[in-house]
Amino acid sequence: MRQTKKVYVKTFGCQMNVYDSERITEHLGANGYAETATIDDADLIVLNTCHIREKAADKVYSDLGRLRELKDERRALGLDTMVAVAGCVAQAEGAEIVARAPVVDLVIGPQSYHRMPELLVRAKAEARTFVEIAFPEDEKFAHLPARSGVPARSASAFLTVQEGCDKFCTFCVVPYTRGAEYSRSVDELVTEAEKLVARGVREITLLGQNVNAFHGTGPDNQAWSLARLIRRLAEIDGVERLRYTTSHPRDMADDLIKAHAEVGKLMPYLHLPFQAGSDRILAAMNRKHTAAEYRALVRKIRDARPDIALSTDIIVGFPGETDAEFSQTLDLISDVGFAQAYTFKYSPRPGTPAAKMDGQVPEEVKAERLVRLQALLEVEHAKFNAGCVGRTVPVLFEKTGRQDGQVIGRSPYLQHVAALGDKTLIGQIRAVAINSASPYSLAGTVQAS
Ligand code: 5AD
Ligand code: SF4
Repeated sequence: MRQTKKVYVKTFGCQMNVYDSERITEHLGANGYAETATIDDADLIVLNTCHIREKAADKVYSDLGRLRELKDERRALGLDTMVAVAGCVAQAEGAEIVARAPVVDLVIGPQSYHRMPELLVRAKAEARTFVEIAFPEDEKFAHLPARSGVPARSASAFLTVQEGCDKFCTFCVVPYTRGAEYSRSVDELVTEAEKLVARGVREITLLGQNVNAFHGTGPDNQAWSLARLIRRLAEIDGVERLRYTTSHPRDMADDLIKAHAEVGKLMPYLHLPFQAGSDRILAAMNRKHTAAEYRALVRKIRDARPDIALSTDIIVGFPGETDAEFSQTLDLISDVGFAQAYTFKYSPRPGTPAAKMDGQVPEEVKAERLVRLQALLEVEHAKFNAGCVGRTVPVLFEKTGRQDGQVIGRSPYLQHVAALGDKTLIGQIRAVAINSASPYSLAGTVQAS
């Protein structure tokens, strides 16, 4: 009997990689690999990597150093271990990875995951390394393995609808690592959403580097907008909640804003990165909008859906950013009010225009700005969460909590909500009366249904 091999997948970076890691596990599962959570037992280790900032990329190399030791230890026991590097570092650095870390057997870019099982067999048989980072014509979504029957890991799932980016913000590697914008077809997405629901999923988050630039072909052969796709997915029985991320302010079309007013299943939460509050910096970033335009857009969105919670991405210390310009970032935060924010020190990325700009900001200045920014944001998050105390909100329960008898779910505004209750609540949406809040989460009491 053929023995099942074990694979350990480690995911770095964004939700698109989380989605891709699940697809990788499924492709490998269909080819005789069972997933393991113990790296020491793994016959195959896949690092699904992120290249967005230097720190993320560096982590991959320190992991590869450790994997060399692990491979040697297992070899001493007569066990073979293969190592694959997937994701954006693979795409960006290709063969360089093997030169720096010869422990690697396969380097594979996001467009080629369906070829992973075949390439692993060849790498082993031919005792050589493969580097597969071309953008092939036949796209990877066409090769999704069938996944009916297997219960979903959670009541909430990701669905990648769009990949790549044509915006070329001057700080960002995504247009180089993930390539040009590509949208999946509506039929394909409806089928995948129906399969997710059949596996017990109640909430679907549509993913894309620029998700609101979605323009997939509909059944009528026309290009459908994200709003139209959302309306179609909302018709599926069993889809209870829809979300999408990440959006660009320039692509917040009127029909999408209208969908927030009209589609009940579309959750009142929007991740809308603004990156910086200074118009000079925004122009140098090639964001193609001003701070005033961002404020006006938020007003329009809140007119359509007054309770919408906003989240954002912010970079401090972009080349040339002065203290006064940084203060404009703080002003924008106070004016808009964010439920959530992801903050980053600018990190020069090879091949991007900003990496070569004059006026690179010293590390200690970036660090000091980040501290000031995070202090303000903590106050904002606490304010937002405190505003929920006394309200009753629908919560989709997803897992058990750390304390006995506790279950954890998400509010429509993506807050973590803890409540007392048993495991049968998992997968259910229940009304919860919120009675306390911290900057990071809420706690409440499940109401009788
Ligand atoms: N340095 C710092 N932050 C970056 N981001 C993207 N590129 C960089 C960079 N070079 C941030 C942006 C983006 C988020 C995903 O990562 O804020 O929205
Ligand atoms: Fe990067 Fe800008 Fe594209 Fe977002 S919109 S992926 S930040 S280039």
